[in-house]
Amino acid sequence: VLCLTEPTDARWIERAIGDLDAVLVDHAHCEMKAASNALSLAARSAAFPGVVRALVALAEEELSHFRRVLDELDRRGIALGHPPVDPYAVDLRKAASTTARAERWRAGGAAWLVERLLVGALIEARSCERFRLLADALRVRGDGELAGFYEELFACEARHFRLLVDLAIDVAGDGDSVRARLGEISRSEGEIVRRLDGAAAIHG
Ligand SMILES: [Fe+2]
Ligand SMILES: [Fe+2]
Repeated sequence: VLCLTEPTDARWIERAIGDLDAVLVDHAHCEMKAASNALSLAARSAAFPGVVRALVALAEEELSHFRRVLDELDRRGIALGHPPVDPYAVDLRKAASTTARAERWRAGGAAWLVERLLVGALIEARSCERFRLLADALRVRGDGELAGFYEELFACEARHFRLLVDLAIDVAGDGDSVRARLGEISRSEGEIVRRLDGAAAIHG
């Protein structure tokens, strides 16, 4: 799917479907984090007005997803609870900044922004892959309504992936180096995913 180097292990979907409540709670937090990450990147993109606009629109869309997952939690009588630690996102950000130092991206505002946009793109790509798996498994189980919701979000995440890569290219002003860098971060992402324990979480 998209630029991912490592497909999700089949055990993940079994555990996710086995504890849908936990997946929905984690999913709600993911949408909230996606919105707040888009806003915090917008605040650091003042030199690129078009990027600010695009990130604000993205934040609004992620907030609307957050609201819809909250509605789903309410319908099922599930409490939101505190956000669980997301080792996937933490490790991915760490991997990106470590390789960024070692590789061609030198410290600097634009390089930092490009790196964070690409990390965001990878998170969208992985969510996209997982929403597809959830949608298919829910369909098989006969939960057509929730399957439809995840199908819709699957398409959104694919679009967000492309948007964030395009924004990174706008900021860097060079598509080839951004695509090469995306490939490197994608390989790190694959290694991180291989180490995950398959917990019932969007990035478990
Ligand atoms: Fe979203
Ligand atoms: Fe998204």
